[in-house]
Amino acid sequence: MNRVRCDQTPAWGALKSIYLASGKGFDLRTAFAADADRFKTFSQAAPHVFADLSKNLLDAQAEQVLLDLARQSGLEQHRDAMFAGDKINNTENRAVMHWLLRNPPLAQMQKARPAIDSVANELAAVHTTLEAMLAYATAVRADQQITDVVNIGIGGSDLGPQMAVLALDEFVMPGKRFHFVSNVDGHELASVLRKVKVDSTLFLIASKTFTTIETMTNANSAKAWFAAQGGTDVARHFAALTTNVVAAKAFGISTTFGFWDWVGGRYSVWSAIGLPLAIAIGAAGFKAFLAGAHDMDEHFRTAPLAQNLPVRLGLLDVWYRNFHGFTSRSVAPYHSALKRYPAYLQQLEMESNGKSVDASGQALPFGSSPALWGEPGTNGQHAYFQMLHQGTDVVPVEFVAVKKPKHSLPGHHTLLLANVLAQAQALMLGKADAGGHKHFAGNRPSSFLVLDELTPASLGALIALQEHRVFVSGSLWGINSFDQWGVELGKVLAKDVEARLGSGEVAGLDGSTAGLLAKLRS
Ligand code: F6P
Repeated sequence: MNRVRCDQTPAWGALKSIYLASGKGFDLRTAFAADADRFKTFSQAAPHVFADLSKNLLDAQAEQVLLDLARQSGLEQHRDAMFAGDKINNTENRAVMHWLLRNPPLAQMQKARPAIDSVANELAAVHTTLEAMLAYATAVRADQQITDVVNIGIGGSDLGPQMAVLALDEFVMPGKRFHFVSNVDGHELASVLRKVKVDSTLFLIASKTFTTIETMTNANSAKAWFAAQGGTDVARHFAALTTNVVAAKAFGISTTFGFWDWVGGRYSVWSAIGLPLAIAIGAAGFKAFLAGAHDMDEHFRTAPLAQNLPVRLGLLDVWYRNFHGFTSRSVAPYHSALKRYPAYLQQLEMESNGKSVDASGQALPFGSSPALWGEPGTNGQHAYFQMLHQGTDVVPVEFVAVKKPKHSLPGHHTLLLANVLAQAQALMLGKADAGGHKHFAGNRPSSFLVLDELTPASLGALIALQEHRVFVSGSLWGINSFDQWGVELGKVLAKDVEARLGSGEVAGLDGSTAGLLAKLRS
């Protein structure tokens, strides 16, 4: 596979010139006035998701050269290597195959795909585990005694299932409540334990490694609570979702649903880590979630680069980060159920691409992951949108709107859609005729994603779209998007500090940590 870091391609230099000549001074209002087809040129249909990219600071010439940049960087080969099961996670010597979790079984594949044969065994194992997990989910759904499902996990073992269970609230079966405990702060677990009863609770211990200190601490406390409340049937009330079946067994859990080291934590909602979602929306719903994502995989894998939505979004990310110098992106889902979508995307983008060396360990001479942040609309409008409209920094916004609501309350949805359209419009148009405090410069870029409805399939497609756009920018940046060494140092230091909090020993500590430690112990 021939990966070339984006700054070492001819297109990189060409883009620098284009930025200076026409990118820097690009004006959206002028661009729309000059081109009646701009909406058409810069919109892109993909499975379950339509995107309007026309309100971005980009013209056809710059996009062409960005596509050259992708080709010259070897994006297609890199993508194909991922879909062939090659070990593209080089620092951990692992394949990257979360896409395989949503691939139909070999016998059901409509078109033959030779590269899949090399991972046929893995695909068979995926479906064996999926069927076992879905059978378990079906049994839990039918079990009226179980009213509360408590997922204990953190990072990818929390954010994915939590985001999806909340997002698909309209599809969640009545009679069961779902709780998510991630923080090592005991307040979180204690709050859940106050609300549940031992006989009616199922604890799911979700951890890829089954070693994460927060999750193990919470799992041990849940187990101790269970015993203290007179619970005896651990097999019925605890299940583990992990690649480390041995550790789960040692913990005393016999019901385990496994997955594999080629599934990154932040890419694991499609695996056994998705069990809370499968219980919540049922086997058919979970399969629809996988199928929606698979549709997006196929789009990413086969659509020409110029009509490939993850590619177009990923290239825009590179254009904004490395040429315009924008350091963050705000996500604004106009659907209240997508409340954890920004947090989910934070891990996806920032844990994947928040790196300052390339895959071979060389320092990057340019910026990588933007900071990602946001809240559902319309709430954000009454909090931080002020800064998006009039602040000194330009922050590209990515809106998500859903055409059809699931409720029938009159007026609400039209008002919601009017607001999302108006915000994108206001960012672009501004208000030049007003001066001083009332002046809006406008020309602030945004993308606009549209789902027909928020369903398991469209959510699956939306999340897979985001995974692949992160792949695209990471690929061009030359990064290994699938490791996360940056989380290790804090883990090691916490162990040392934990001991010092007990002993009070401050020798060798920096002055600030020593001072704070003494303050917290006093
Ligand atoms: O510390 C970061 C991380 O490794 C994430 O990548 C991961 O999603 C999270 O911790 C939880 O890990 P695990 O599922 O192994 O408990």
